[in-house]
Amino acid sequence: MKTKITELFNIEHPIIQGGMHYVGYAELAAAVSNAGGLGIITGLTQRSPEDLAAEIKKCHSMTDKPFGVNLTILPMVNSPDYPGYVKAIVEGGVKIVETAGRSPEKFMPALKEAGIKVIHKCTSVRHALKAEKIGCDAVSADGFECGGHPGEDDIPNFILLPRVLEELSIPFVASGGIGTGSQLVASLALGAEGINMGTRFLATKEAPVHENVKQAILDASELDTRLIMRNLTNTERVLRNSAVDELVELEKAKGEEITFDEVAPFVVSKYRDIMKNGNMDAGAWSCGMVAGLIHDIPSCKELIDRMMKEANAIIHDRLAKL
Ligand SMILES: Cc1cc2nc3c(=O)[nH]c(=O)nc-3n(C[C@H](O)[C@H](O)[C@H](O)COP(=O)(O)O)c2cc1C
Repeated sequence: MKTKITELFNIEHPIIQGGMHYVGYAELAAAVSNAGGLGIITGLTQRSPEDLAAEIKKCHSMTDKPFGVNLTILPMVNSPDYPGYVKAIVEGGVKIVETAGRSPEKFMPALKEAGIKVIHKCTSVRHALKAEKIGCDAVSADGFECGGHPGEDDIPNFILLPRVLEELSIPFVASGGIGTGSQLVASLALGAEGINMGTRFLATKEAPVHENVKQAILDASELDTRLIMRNLTNTERVLRNSAVDELVELEKAKGEEITFDEVAPFVVSKYRDIMKNGNMDAGAWSCGMVAGLIHDIPSCKELIDRMMKEANAIIHDRLAKL
C-alpha cells in the first residue's frame, strides 16, 4: 500500500507507532520499523541528551529501517534541555521527528537544516494549520478517543479527520482509537494517508513494559478510560484504577478550584513504577478507548501483517464489490 506517508518516510506500511513515555524504547521502535511500520523512540523518557544518543545508537544496531524520535514539548517550569535533545537526534542520524504538545516552531530551523522530516501531533484543525504554516511535513491528527492528551476540544476522529482534510494541504495520519485493519481503511476513506497507534502497540510482545500493563489493557473495555486534569486544561485520557478513581472524586469535589499541587501525587513520576514494576495502582497512565478492541498480545510484525491483510481484504473484496 503506497501513500504519501509511506513515501515521505520511506516505509512499507502506512502505520506509525506514536511516542509513549517509558514504552518507546529502542526495542519497540526497532520491532515496529522491522515490521515495515515507523517505530518511534520517546525522547524525554531518556533522562539526558547523552542517554537519548545511546538509545538512538542502540536502535540503529537493531534495525536498518527508518525510525523516528518523539519530542514532546511540555509547558514546564524547568524545561528539559531541548536543544541538547535536538542535537542528539541530528547527530544520531535520525531523519524523522514526531513533535507533540506545544508548537515545535523554535526547533524547526535546526531540524530542517539537518534534513529531518517533522510530523506534528495535534488535536485540532487550528493546530494542524499552524504546523503546516511553520513547515511541518505532515500532521498526526489525534482524535478525542486517543490515549494520552486529547486536548480540550473533544472532537472525535469521525469529524476531525474530514475537517483536517478540508483545510490542510500537507499529508496527515489518523491517530487515536485505532487497532484494526478496518479502522485503517476508514482512516484512509476519511482522507488520512496512514495511521498512528499508541495503546495497540503497548499491548505487543516487544513493548518493553511489565506484563501487568499488557494484562490491564486486555482486561479493559472501551468503558474503562477516564479523563483527568480537565480543570487544569491539561486533559489526559488514562486507564481507570484505584488511584484514578480517587483523583476523579477529588476533581469532582474541588471543581475549578483544584490546583496542580493537589493532582501531582496521582500523576507525577508514576510511569516508571507502572511500566517497569507493574504496580498498576501507583497512579495515572495514558490509555486509549481502543483497549476495548484489544484482545491479544501479538508481535509487532503479527499485528502489522494482520492489519494490512484485513485492510487489503476490505478494500479489494468487500468495498470493491459494493
Ligand atoms: C502509555 C502512553 C504514553 C504516551 N506518552 C506519550 C508521550 O510521551 N508523548 C506523546 O507525544 N504522546 C504520548 N502518547 C500518545 C501516543 O503517542 C498516541 O498519540 C496515542 O496513544 C494515540 O491514541 P491510541 O492510544 O488510541 O492509539 C502516549 C500514549 C500512551 C498510551
